[in-house]
Amino acid sequence: MSYLPGAKIYVKLNDAWQQAEVGSASGGKVTTTNGDTVAEKDCCSYSAVAAQGLDDMINLDVLHSASILHNLQTRFDADKIYTYVGSILLSVNPFKPISIFGDDQIDTYAKADVMAIKDGTLKPHIFAVAKDSFEQMLRDQKSQSVIISGESGAGKTEATKYVLKYLTAVSSKAGKKGAAAGAELSPVEKMIIQSSPILEAFGNAKTVRNNNSSRFGKYFEIQFSSVGEITGGVITDYLLEKSRVVCPAENERGYHIFYLLCKGASPEERAKYKIENLTDFHYTNLSGCFDVEGVDEVEEYKAVQQAFADCKMTNLEVDAVKRILAGILHLGNAKFESAEDDDPCNLSADSAASIKAVADLLDFSESQLSNSLTQRTMSTGGRGSVYKIKLKKKEAEAARDALAKHMYLTLFSWIVKKVSDNMQAEKPPAFSIGVLDIFGFEVMPVNSFEQLCINFANEKLHQQFIHYVFALEMEEYDKEKLGITIDYEDNKDCVELIEKKGTGILGILQEQCQLGARGSDAEFLNNTIQTYNKHRYFIVEKRSRTEFSISHYANPVKYETEGFLEKNRDSVNDDIRSLMDSTSMPEIKSIIHKKEDAAAGAAAGARGRKRKVATVANKFKDSLQTLVTVINSTTPHYVRCLKSTEKKMPGIFDGANMNRQLGYSGVLETIKVRLAGYAVRMDYSVFVRRFAILVGKVEGEGKAAASEILTKSKIDVADTKVVALGITKVFLKREALLLQLEKAREQFLLSSVLVIQRYWRREYARRKFQKLKEEAKRKAEEEARRREEEERKKKEEAEAAARLQQCDQQETAGEDEGRERSATEQNNALNSVMSKARTDGVQCTFLNIKDRVMVLGYTPMATNHRNKVDKESPGISMEPVMIKGWLAKEGSKGFTTGRFNNWNKRFFVMKKDRIVYYKDESLKDKKGDFQLETSSSVTEIPETYHKNLPTGVGNHFFQVNIRGRSTKLACDHETEKEKWMDGISTAILQLKSGTEKVKTGSDFSVHMPDRSILTSSVKTSNAKDVFLKVATTVSIQKGIQFFSLVKAYTTPDRLDFYNVFSERDNVADLGPYRLAFYRVISLKGKDDLSDPKLLMVEYSQTVRANLMFFEYEEKDAIELAALQLKVKEGTISSVTHTRGFLSENLHEYMPDSQLMRYGDNTEVTNQWEADILNRAADIESSKKSVNECMEEYIKKSQENVLYGCTFFEVSMIREEQDYAYILGVNSTGLHVIDRKTRALVVSFPYVSIMRWSRSSKKFNFTTQGENHWTMLTKQGEEINKFMGIYVRFLLDNKD
Ligand SMILES: Nc1ncnc2c1ncn2[C@@H]1O[C@H](COP(=O)(O)OP(=O)(O)OP(=O)(O)O)[C@@H](O)[C@H]1O
Ligand SMILES: [Mg+2]
Repeated sequence: MSYLPGAKIYVKLNDAWQQAEVGSASGGKVTTTNGDTVAEKDCCSYSAVAAQGLDDMINLDVLHSASILHNLQTRFDADKIYTYVGSILLSVNPFKPISIFGDDQIDTYAKADVMAIKDGTLKPHIFAVAKDSFEQMLRDQKSQSVIISGESGAGKTEATKYVLKYLTAVSSKAGKKGAAAGAELSPVEKMIIQSSPILEAFGNAKTVRNNNSSRFGKYFEIQFSSVGEITGGVITDYLLEKSRVVCPAENERGYHIFYLLCKGASPEERAKYKIENLTDFHYTNLSGCFDVEGVDEVEEYKAVQQAFADCKMTNLEVDAVKRILAGILHLGNAKFESAEDDDPCNLSADSAASIKAVADLLDFSESQLSNSLTQRTMSTGGRGSVYKIKLKKKEAEAARDALAKHMYLTLFSWIVKKVSDNMQAEKPPAFSIGVLDIFGFEVMPVNSFEQLCINFANEKLHQQFIHYVFALEMEEYDKEKLGITIDYEDNKDCVELIEKKGTGILGILQEQCQLGARGSDAEFLNNTIQTYNKHRYFIVEKRSRTEFSISHYANPVKYETEGFLEKNRDSVNDDIRSLMDSTSMPEIKSIIHKKEDAAAGAAAGARGRKRKVATVANKFKDSLQTLVTVINSTTPHYVRCLKSTEKKMPGIFDGANMNRQLGYSGVLETIKVRLAGYAVRMDYSVFVRRFAILVGKVEGEGKAAASEILTKSKIDVADTKVVALGITKVFLKREALLLQLEKAREQFLLSSVLVIQRYWRREYARRKFQKLKEEAKRKAEEEARRREEEERKKKEEAEAAARLQQCDQQETAGEDEGRERSATEQNNALNSVMSKARTDGVQCTFLNIKDRVMVLGYTPMATNHRNKVDKESPGISMEPVMIKGWLAKEGSKGFTTGRFNNWNKRFFVMKKDRIVYYKDESLKDKKGDFQLETSSSVTEIPETYHKNLPTGVGNHFFQVNIRGRSTKLACDHETEKEKWMDGISTAILQLKSGTEKVKTGSDFSVHMPDRSILTSSVKTSNAKDVFLKVATTVSIQKGIQFFSLVKAYTTPDRLDFYNVFSERDNVADLGPYRLAFYRVISLKGKDDLSDPKLLMVEYSQTVRANLMFFEYEEKDAIELAALQLKVKEGTISSVTHTRGFLSENLHEYMPDSQLMRYGDNTEVTNQWEADILNRAADIESSKKSVNECMEEYIKKSQENVLYGCTFFEVSMIREEQDYAYILGVNSTGLHVIDRKTRALVVSFPYVSIMRWSRSSKKFNFTTQGENHWTMLTKQGEEINKFMGIYVRFLLDNKD
């Protein structure tokens, strides 16, 4: 491996891994950027993911102790003390309370799905291990074991308690269905929990490494019924450290129970057990350490008392226990004296009380006790004779301590057994979960027999562990028929080195022990070296005569053999044995009396027979073998406890310390096995589904597909060092390979996402663009259509205009034509007709009331109905008309006639286009004349008006209409009348023929409600005929009575009055009326025939536009007036008011009193009126002449066009907007004023103004447009004095 400069790595400095950056690397050495130089072997690759603190470190990208430590530290810093390495749970002691062990947590784990552990939903936890074991037990119907190891103070015992807590909680749930965690425990469950304080009080002690160090190993087997209810428990203990009873090291203590008793005993107990202070006792005094920081031992004592009770120990038993404890303490106070060290010794005088106390407490004889401490009985060979030898001081002290230790050991064993027996199930359990809380691998400064035993145990357990992990692995490979064996390092040889029957180290030791006094530590070492000096795991310590080393899986350990034999024998002499037997207290006897031990070493030595001696090692080996056998029969779960620091303090992560522990925790071994085998395995289907995308499409989901994927991913499927293909699974040697595939997959997904996004964006943009394009296209099309439409309209307008002209020009003989047209077309056509007509000066009026407007284009005949000019004889006689004769003529005195007095007989002379009338045939006295114009006409007078006509002037009436003024004439004979009418008509035609084509008939077209247009032609200008023709044509053709018509009836002089035909009216009923309309301007839609207001006719050439309403009301009259503006200004929606201005015809129909003189009092009009009146008063008082006033008025009018106006409010709709206008009428003309802004919109100056009749105060005026008005000067005067003056002035001057 070579490291590149700049690469992040881990380097081992002072036994701890640290993160570093490569500065340079050469010659097998790496120099970090911090300046440290380390050997390459002390460097390893940096984990990119360890800083994330993975839950399961098997998933680390690089798996070695450095990355593991890095990961562990990351988690530790976040109070995550549990982490998996595959199937192993690592637990780092936090040395502080962490709130993850409550009932709620138990509940969480208990309720969670079993998969939750596997899929990472449940975080690593000791409860997860307990849950797993419990559920697996029930699922697999197989016993389980939880093997908790770690060095002293790493948290094994705490972990064990948490496992027990979890199991009792879920068991009680199983027992009491639905009970929550924390439900009351059953007695046996309680016993299991309560066994802990007892075991800890008797088996634990404060050491420098752990304030509550377990000085024994235990395997706690929890027994379950088939439904998972705890039925009992069995505790097996291993190798209690009994030396601690008599000589705790400095800063350490003996077993807690001594301290609890001395601190917590009641006064009675103190008296009974003769205890006062801890300082009173030699054993407790030795180390000078009495307290454990933060522990209230008085309370603890009570707790233990309670635990005794809960574990069903009787009072007598407890009493016996306390007696033995007190006895041991007192025994320790026995002191010996001798003159010289080698002299026989005696009990010192001050020991008497202690001896007495012991004897009293344990029911020994004082002398026997004393003797057993100061002398030893020796046998003399085979015949059984014995003798006593006095012991030297040291020997006596040893005997004392041996007695104490022995008593304590037997007491401890008895307690464990008692508690165990008490909780044991009556019936054989269905399954069990064994929890092993055993000392971890130990390397002390001086390692003795105990360490050999402990490390041997760990070696055994490690072998079991490796076998388990390996076996599982191999089982899997076999199942998958990989034909692969994994190459990994087994510790079998090391285990054999120690335990091999007869020849193993323990066997050689046993042999020496068997030799009795002849056996020696030196011989043991010698033999061992001889046997194993070439052994792979055995190291001869050449410089030492007493030491050897074993290359344990975790570390090489050097053992000091001195004392091996003694420790192994662990025997007490017969004197002590018989002393202990001597007690008559049954409870005590049952505790300290041990029969089978009695014949041990001593007997062997005595008889010299080669009988198997029950040595410590042998017993331990056996029990260990039993343990391994038990564990092998279970499914094991491994918990490795690690100690974050030696300081027993929270928040310290001592890397070197952790690294050391990792070394012998087996974690690295797991990794090795894992690395030796295949780190990753995946079902084919899972694999294929996950990675098929890397290679596109593959067939199926099996081996072939997986193989294809791997091959295409450039992985050699034949290379079993990389990958193996089983029956159902893919095996990848390294996690990194999976990572590589995952990365490729991720990359692929990422790029796919990008591609999809890209495509989508493109598609999105394309669609958007398409949309815009379509939109633009649509707009362009619309625009084109619009233009086309415009063009078409223009064309149509032109066509319509042309048609109109054609109608004017061509004689068409009454062929009706109906054509369908769209409403818009119609309107457009109408508009064009309208404008065309206007520009051509054709007389036509349009009422464009939205879509309902119907226009009958009509070109008036220039002649009356008697005009002979028709189709057959198109020409007219251009011969000047010359007629003479008497005619009666209506005088100019008044309109409201009915009386004859107004009529005069005059002698009329017509020359060409001029009619002059005289007083008589002498032609001397000219009374007046008419000058005919092209717009003049001669018409009959409607019959209705005949009643108003005078009698006695002739019975045949007709009238001549010139510039808005009609003159009624009468003669005696019809032929005469015809002569005059024909003559006048001809004259008019002749006039017209000079400027325009003479019409020979009347064309009309009716725009029907169904949008069809009927065109027809009549050869008459007789209004009645026209009407009848229209009516019949339409009704015949359409089969309906389709429209309302005005019944127009004329006064003798004017066609002023109308009624409205409803559709109900029979056309024949029109008979009595003289219909003189020229043009039907508008017809309402069929549906709205009930409302006849919109029907409009133009009834004369001079008074051309008028509207009739069904209900004849004032407002209608106002509307009538306002409508005059319509053609120019658009559609009038309403007219609200008037001030005294009415057309004369309306006035005739209404009494003056009903006329509204004054309208709204808007500020403006009021002001204007006030101004006018004030001004009028001024003028009156100034006594100016009329002419002067007039001049002034005209002058002012010129300055201000609105001067002296009479106002009307008019509202109009122009271009679909509502406009409010004020219509002003004054001497200069008609003015339209914006109501809001009061700005002048348009002015129509008068073109002419004339008196309607001399006798009346009415006058007509014509504006520049086509608006003709008739006003009453009478009202005019009242309304506007100046206007009246002006009008009179004009009229007077005109005439
Ligand atoms: N999960 C834990 N949370 C908090 N503190 C703990 C935890 N585990 C252990 N400790 C602390 O560490 C101390 C030592 O733990 P424990 O007695 O379980 O160690 P051990 O491995 O059994 O040691 P020994 O081998 O000496 O018996 C406990 O008394 C407690 O203070
Ligand atoms: Mg412990």
